[in-house]
Amino acid sequence: RKLQLSISQLEKGGYPHFMLKEIYEQPSTLVDCIRGRINPDTCEVKLSGVIDHREKFVNARRIIFVACGTSWHASLIGEHLIESICRIPVEVEYASEFRYRNPIIREDDIVIAVSQSGETADTLAAVELARKAGAFVFGICNVVGSSIARATDSGAYIHVGPEIGVASTKAFTGQVTVMAMLALAVGRERETVSDAYYHEVSSALLYLPETLEEVLKVAPQVADLAKIFTYAHNFIYLGRGYNYPTALEGALKLKEISYIHAEGYPAAEMKHGPIALIDAEMPTVAIATPDHTYEKTASNIEEIRARGGKIIAVIARDDRQVRRSADYVIEVPVIAECLMPIVVSVPLQLLAYYIAVYKGRNVDQPRNLAKSVTVE
Ligand code: G6P
Repeated sequence: RKLQLSISQLEKGGYPHFMLKEIYEQPSTLVDCIRGRINPDTCEVKLSGVIDHREKFVNARRIIFVACGTSWHASLIGEHLIESICRIPVEVEYASEFRYRNPIIREDDIVIAVSQSGETADTLAAVELARKAGAFVFGICNVVGSSIARATDSGAYIHVGPEIGVASTKAFTGQVTVMAMLALAVGRERETVSDAYYHEVSSALLYLPETLEEVLKVAPQVADLAKIFTYAHNFIYLGRGYNYPTALEGALKLKEISYIHAEGYPAAEMKHGPIALIDAEMPTVAIATPDHTYEKTASNIEEIRARGGKIIAVIARDDRQVRRSADYVIEVPVIAECLMPIVVSVPLQLLAYYIAVYKGRNVDQPRNLAKSVTVE
């Protein structure tokens, strides 16, 4: 028994849980994800799955993402990336809904299946359906040789190494990183991206590992915040644009491992209902990093404060405005807007992690959940 214990501690690399190990691994897993795909001298992005099927991507009429859980949240960011960089219309579907809806799939559609495990039953079934309908199917998986990786026409692995914690962390940042590289590679081929923007994003991708090292320094401060909010019964997470899916993902992490009810919302939707929930007992995590909707987010936050809600804001270090309305702030470095979900998701992973630890939850194996859902 003693021996087993030390083996399991060894596997966790000195961390108390796999989830924390995987959160801290992200700077290095992103090195592996980017390696060989972005030339550090020229910032050119090369994905063999795109090069080998160039015509398919250049002529695609539509892209449909199919995924579940965290991979579905990453896909919502993929939608934003591809629509803005490649100007291809994108839809994001829950694999389980897609497969049972008799969906319209055409031969010039590209279906992108996103799955960490590559074994999720609904996603695999959606892939099979899309292939039967004649679409080109591209996989974004982590597990090499997995069922979905084998069933797709082409793909790009995220290469973040085995993810053991049931709550997905490094797979999410790897998925978004691959999607950003995919959008740049396809945008270049379709000539829908300016050189300046292409270089801004690809060089920010190259610096992601350093950026995430920097972000991880907030951990002790997030742990303190988690102590303050351990006994909250509900949480709201708000974001807009690229960070709306980050809000959904932050809320999902908290639900999964701490069993606290949490909802993610696009910040501007609050006034259409959820703001009725706001009182001193309903903390809000608001993502308000600088982007073209910053001012709007700032006023959404002000509305929550006016109703007595407690606000934890994720902001830039040099932020002046939101800092004034927030009760607590988490400061993050700022990079290209489309990559901010990768930066912001890290403190949200940590917040969920520490709250779950303080509640004494089984962080790596939360109740009722499985790492990969291979049955319906
Ligand atoms: C399960 C896991 C989630 C994961 C989802 C999709 O529900 O608990 O963390 O996001 O499956 O898994 P996949 O392997 O397809 O990305």
